[in-house]
Amino acid sequence: MAQLNPNLRDGFGSKLGVIAAAAGSAVGLGNIWRFPYVVGQNGGGAFLLVYLLFILVIGVPVMLSEFVVGRRSQRNALGAFKKLAPGTYWHVIGIMGIGAAFFILSFYTTVSGWTLEYLVFSLSSSFEGKDKEELNVMFEQFRMSGLKPLIYQMIFMFFTAFIVFKGVKNGIEKYTKLLMPALLLIIVVLCVRAVTLPGAGQGLVFLFKPDFMKITGDVVLQALGQAFFSLSIGMGALITYGSYINSENNLSNSAFSVTLTDTLVAVLAGVAIFPAVFAFGIQPEAGPGLVFITLPMIFEQMAGGYFFSLIFFLLLVIAALTSTISVLEVVVAYVSEELGMNRKKATVLSAISISVLGIFCTLSQGPMPEIHIGNRNLFDILEFVSANIMLPLGGLLIVLFVGWYMKKDEVFDEISNKNKLKVRFKWLYLYIIKFVAPVAIALVFLNGLGFFGAFSN
Ligand code: TRP
Repeated sequence: MAQLNPNLRDGFGSKLGVIAAAAGSAVGLGNIWRFPYVVGQNGGGAFLLVYLLFILVIGVPVMLSEFVVGRRSQRNALGAFKKLAPGTYWHVIGIMGIGAAFFILSFYTTVSGWTLEYLVFSLSSSFEGKDKEELNVMFEQFRMSGLKPLIYQMIFMFFTAFIVFKGVKNGIEKYTKLLMPALLLIIVVLCVRAVTLPGAGQGLVFLFKPDFMKITGDVVLQALGQAFFSLSIGMGALITYGSYINSENNLSNSAFSVTLTDTLVAVLAGVAIFPAVFAFGIQPEAGPGLVFITLPMIFEQMAGGYFFSLIFFLLLVIAALTSTISVLEVVVAYVSEELGMNRKKATVLSAISISVLGIFCTLSQGPMPEIHIGNRNLFDILEFVSANIMLPLGGLLIVLFVGWYMKKDEVFDEISNKNKLKVRFKWLYLYIIKFVAPVAIALVFLNGLGFFGAFSN
């Protein structure tokens, strides 16, 4: 029996499972917490337009390339390059990816902990009767208090490790198939509530009407970083998931479906949040506190606020959890396959070692302000370096690998399932990953870091 074969890797059992897991990875705090405040800080509609362009021209091809590397090699993010390019340095992509997984999971579980706490706050009606100032103080006090955020962070890490511990089919696939439909339902309910608020129109104008004067080198880099972060690309999470996809799956269809779902949820999150922000006369540039300070205030004043706040924070928790498992899986797959440890041990060990960095990250928010560079604390540094530097760099190297190192026939063979599928745009894809995507990433990257003197700050 196939299942008893110890050499057979664990993997996804169905097409829907692949989409649920990969879309679960992509749809996360990046869409619901990060996207709205980054849009708010970068001027609204114009940012959205640049973002959508990057999703299409860079996001989809990078995602497909990750699936190609993963399924072709049947290995983790580092082992994949060792197998496909033995004796070369390409596996530094994997090393960087595992580093990025540590960084991302550290600050991500900090925020995930906040979402869990806010779910508890919602349950116990803790926002009741508080005005904006009080809600601000509530968030700041909680965030900086040290112990409580740490406890919630650890609880969150425990849930994450629990699912990863159970394996790919019986853990990741099972839970994401259960959680993703709930997430989609909740976001739709929230959108309907938001657009029916009096004064909602102004928020929609902010989100959808581009003002091109607002586009600067920094805005474009932020859009690129957000695209990579939101799609979970550039660090090998989707190489790892790709290695669990069976040989029948149409990889380009999967990449499109996942991208579409992710983009839809980000836009829906914008639609759920900005009308409410404007309807209640709040500034959209609130930053990372947007969903934790602004939204409770709105829920406070809105009919049915208790219910909507509850489902909103539930939405955040679910979205975060289906993402954190994909990041932890990168490390676990590496430790178990390359270092030959069994999966369960690898999960416990990885979760604990990431938690160490995670703890410092949470503490850098308050009790340990000495961990900082300039005016960025450890949390800000990890977020900036991973999203805006490591992911675009990883993505650049991945497309270069697939476009220039791998043989064209190998790549076409993989996306067409050995010529069983007719992939009409395969030449376009090849052209994009060879030229368009690498040049675009490199330009945005250098420009954003101030190399052409266009840096506006
Ligand atoms: N995409 C997720 C989000 O938007 C975060 C995430 C999960 C991620 N896995 C990743 C980001 C891998 C980069 C790489 O919240």
